[in-house]
Amino acid sequence: MIVTTKKLFEHAYGKYAIGAYNINNLEQIVGLFRGNLDSQAPFIIQISKGARSYTDKAFLEGLIRAADDVFPEAIFAVHLDHGDEATCYDCIDSGFYSSVMIDASSEPFEENIAITKRVVEAAHAKGIVVEAELGMLGGVEEHVKVDEANAKLTDPDQAKEFVERTGVDSLAVAIGTSHGAFKFTGSQSLHFDVLAEIQKRLPGFPLVMHGSSSVPQEEVDRINAAGGQIAGAKGVDATQFRPAAKLGVTKINIDTDGRLVWTRVHREFFNEFPAKFDLRDPGKVFMGEYAKFIAAKNEYLGSAGQLQQVREFLKA
Ligand code: G3H
Ligand code: 13P
Ligand code: ZN
Repeated sequence: MIVTTKKLFEHAYGKYAIGAYNINNLEQIVGLFRGNLDSQAPFIIQISKGARSYTDKAFLEGLIRAADDVFPEAIFAVHLDHGDEATCYDCIDSGFYSSVMIDASSEPFEENIAITKRVVEAAHAKGIVVEAELGMLGGVEEHVKVDEANAKLTDPDQAKEFVERTGVDSLAVAIGTSHGAFKFTGSQSLHFDVLAEIQKRLPGFPLVMHGSSSVPQEEVDRINAAGGQIAGAKGVDATQFRPAAKLGVTKINIDTDGRLVWTRVHREFFNEFPAKFDLRDPGKVFMGEYAKFIAAKNEYLGSAGQLQQVREFLKA
């Protein structure tokens, strides 16, 4: 069942975070649904602009609708990840997405507000909810001076003003994470002090953490042992998810870790079975491994085991 993120956030706020997983193909979608049902978790499917144009956006939509039929117990939102204004309108008009992200975070503050406001108006007119972003993700390098580094993080006062002026439903905040496999070069970690200040100014308002893959060392080691060359990768400690959820983070975005599962499975498979060429053989292994990965992640997020309660909450 497709629901809005708004409803999921209402149930999760302050207690746990919902996993927002990027998908690109059939095997990921099947593994995603299986993993979330195995762990009895509500979830968010995220579709990036890149995912929409990988083949034709209609394929992903068709696959997700089919998964909704095949796994009728699943409760999930369909969300556009990092949309520009035109892509947001395309998704709003499609009638398929229950949530869109407008990412105008690279624009100056006033322009970000103006763009976000336009998207919020168009989305709300159709019952669709909107996530926006304020601050700059991209890693806070160790060599950057504290003042410069903090300038990239979300300013708590601006966050309050941004939410009030745009009417947005949730806000992605920059608290030290970045996208991809190379998030930290040394001892940096998340800026919970900034998160706490944002929550103080926006009590009860759902916050979003992008760039939250953990890049498990064991996964990287297995990929490299099977011929990969991913050196120095480092991610977010998953034990930080629960403390973040207590401070108002209700959505945690994970893409890179899923890509690592795919890479490990396929590298190891073809190393072990060099004579095989039926694409379904590694595909089956991947779907199982991806499901396990999702279920394990949901334990860290605290979303595991919440499905029945969410179902009852939606009925009430
Ligand atoms: O935040 C970006 C996501 O990881 C999606 O990546 O644009 O390569 O699909 P993508
Ligand atoms: P990762 O690269 O850490 O998986 O982040 C994904 C993300 O933020 C998608 O919007
Ligand atoms: Zn992101």
